[in-house]
Parts: sequence; C-alpha cells; structure tokens
Amino acid sequence: MLNIVVLVSGGGTNLQAIMDKIADGTVTNTKIAAVISNNANAYALERAKNAGIPAECISPKQFENRDLFNEALLAGVKKYNPDLVVLAGFLVIIPPALIAEYRNRLINIHPSLIPSFCGTGYYGLKVHEAVLARGNKVTGATVHFVDEGTDTGPILIQKAVYVQQGDTAEVLQKRVMVEAEWEILPQAIDAIANGRVVMEDGKAWIK
Ligand code: GRF
Repeated sequence: MLNIVVLVSGGGTNLQAIMDKIADGTVTNTKIAAVISNNANAYALERAKNAGIPAECISPKQFENRDLFNEALLAGVKKYNPDLVVLAGFLVIIPPALIAEYRNRLINIHPSLIPSFCGTGYYGLKVHEAVLARGNKVTGATVHFVDEGTDTGPILIQKAVYVQQGDTAEVLQKRVMVEAEWEILPQAIDAIANGRVVMEDGKAWIK
C-alpha cells in the first residue's frame, strides 16, 4: 500500500481527483494518509475533512522565520511516514531538506508542457495567460519528480490539450485541469503505487 501525503494551497480539485479515483478503483494500492496546507482557508482541507482524511494547516505565518516553518513542514510530513509526497497546487517553496528526504518520492503537477511556461513566476492563471499571449495551439500538464530546481525534475507523464480561439485564461485553465491534470496526476500515483516507474539515464518512464 502506497502511503501518500498531499500538499495543497487552494481549491483542491487535483486532490479531489486523486480521492475520487482511489474510491472508484482507478488508482489502486494507494492510501492518502494526510493532507497538509500552508493556507488555513484552503478548500482542499475541507475536501479532506469531508472524506475523513487527516488534514492540517502548517503555515509560515505560524512561525517566527522561514527556517522554523521549513523544519515544521518536514516534521509534519514525516510524522505520516509517506512513501510518496504529492504537491497538488502547493504554492510554497519546498525546503531543500524535504526534497533530500523524499528524493524521487516527491512529485508535482504543473499546468503546462514542461519545459514551456514553467519556472519562477509561472503558476496558476499566469501559466495560461502566457500560453495565450504566445499564441500556442497546444498546451497541457506535466507530472514530474521534484528536485532542487523549479519545475526541473525528471518528467514522469504529460498530456496535451488544444488551445481554442477565443479561450480566456480561466477557460483554458479549466480545460487543462479537466482533460489533463485530473487524469495524469492519478495515473502517475497509480504507476508509482504499482511499481511501474523506471528510471533510465535520469529519465522517468511508466512501464
Ligand atoms: C492546478 O492548476 C495545478 O496545476 C497548479 O495549481 C492548481 C491547483 O489547483 N499547480 P487545485 O488546488 O488542485 O484545484
């Protein structure tokens, strides 16, 4: 059984997709041990509580400095003994100690086809605004392992989504979520849970 902790900051629709696909059997051999948010008002915490999943807020606001927050976040994650840590819209810089502790066991969902429209400053609607500004015809989402860079770790799975004439950033964001994010993040978790991920020359593949 893959024990996962999901880190969230917002609405939690990716978390909900994981919960739903565990419930309907699409994702197997997986249990959400806890959901942790930096934002006490994150609706994602409500989603977890409604499902009886331990949910807690660990916020930088609760600590005198970032180092104390980073220590608390790592301790907060470790206490659930996760086999995998999932970043699902987590908007906090990940402490290097957490990356080191969960190397190759820490994944993130990013709402573009990395390496396009990623890195510092590319998050949420900003990603989709940049896609529309450039006039891309195809965008999508990426699940990747997290390393010390920003959106730079080994790519595990991607799914493309067509941009349509007249799209607003909000419309495109929703399409990318529905058609890509909510599909590939559960797929990635199921592959990890069932031993179907292989690393070859630093590249990750799903068998
Ligand atoms: C998603 O668009 C995800 O790609 C990005 O942050 C957003 C989180 O949305 N990393 P939600 O909280 O899962 O609804």
